[in-house]
Amino acid sequence: MSPSTLRQSTCALLALSLVTTATAGPCDLYDAAGYPCVAAHSTTRALYSAYSGPLYQVQRTDGTTTDIAPLSAGGVANASTQDSFCAGTTCVISIIYDQSPRGNHLTRAPPGSAGSGPAPGGYDNLADATAAPVYLNGHKVYGVKVAPGTGYRNNDAKGTATGNAAEGMYAVLDGTHYNGGCCFDYGNAETNSVDTGAGHMEAIYFGNCNVWGTGQGSGPWIMGDLENGLFSGQNAKYNGGDPAINYRFVTAVIKGDSSNLWAIRGGNAASGSLSTYYSGPRPSGYYPMKKEGAIILGIGGDNSHGAQGTFYEGVMTTGYPSDAVEDKVQADVVAAGYATSS
Ligand SMILES: *[C@@H]1O[C@H](CO)[C@@H](O)[C@H](O)[C@H]1NC(C)=O
Repeated sequence: MSPSTLRQSTCALLALSLVTTATAGPCDLYDAAGYPCVAAHSTTRALYSAYSGPLYQVQRTDGTTTDIAPLSAGGVANASTQDSFCAGTTCVISIIYDQSPRGNHLTRAPPGSAGSGPAPGGYDNLADATAAPVYLNGHKVYGVKVAPGTGYRNNDAKGTATGNAAEGMYAVLDGTHYNGGCCFDYGNAETNSVDTGAGHMEAIYFGNCNVWGTGQGSGPWIMGDLENGLFSGQNAKYNGGDPAINYRFVTAVIKGDSSNLWAIRGGNAASGSLSTYYSGPRPSGYYPMKKEGAIILGIGGDNSHGAQGTFYEGVMTTGYPSDAVEDKVQADVVAAGYATSS
């Protein structure tokens, strides 16, 4: 072998090993398992290993905007862009981009049947862009801190589950920021911001609202917001399998099949694996489902906006993801290294 041939094959080998060791993101894992992401939202990192587009947009009080991108394809958000753009003024998060090919971006939520938001036109507030700093493997990034009155929505989402179709979703949240108001949600909701009845939603809820379902202790709990109720299992009220959460970073999973099956799973987003808190038949009156396919963050389907919480990343999929692929996604979340200091 000539020195130049040797050099070439060494380069080829290096390139190959870079490709094969590139860490798959959550949506690479769902896609490979046959449950493609139809929405992928995060202000902290890319959720596909090849994604290098914008993660979110910030807006200054003077109205000007800029996009925040990952430091590299598949990487963490470049918080320096935000820090320099927002220096000496305040910024809100004006768009949370969908990293999936569907273009299901989240923007300020409009008024709904539960009432108007506090912003002009009855819209909800936007989150303070600097209110939820965290670190991903030592890199400073920002989450979406939802104060009561804050909400994001897309009432024209493409590719999300409708009717009784199956879907899955996960979100990484701040387990210490919650309240008993309705409803800190991420997931599938009504397309007209009106409460259209039981089964018209299927979203992750996190908090200690005890008006509908409850789990162990005094919460907070991961529950399913299925409309006209937060559910901790099959019973309309108490389900003892749903534990109170006490992790700083929480992975929350809700999924609903086209058969009469749904599940609640969760775990510590900074270590360990997911547990299944419920898997079984839907509550009475919730099969078949009547999902509408809009996407909400931080509010209820009818724009109830009394809740608070903090969102770091989340996706929605088609199909009913296997526990096995969700377990791989949890491992990817843990490897992302969520922490409160560098
Ligand atoms: C991150 O953002 C800063 C500030 O906008 C910029 O100067 C820098 O080039 C960005 N880094 C990368 C890797 O894009």
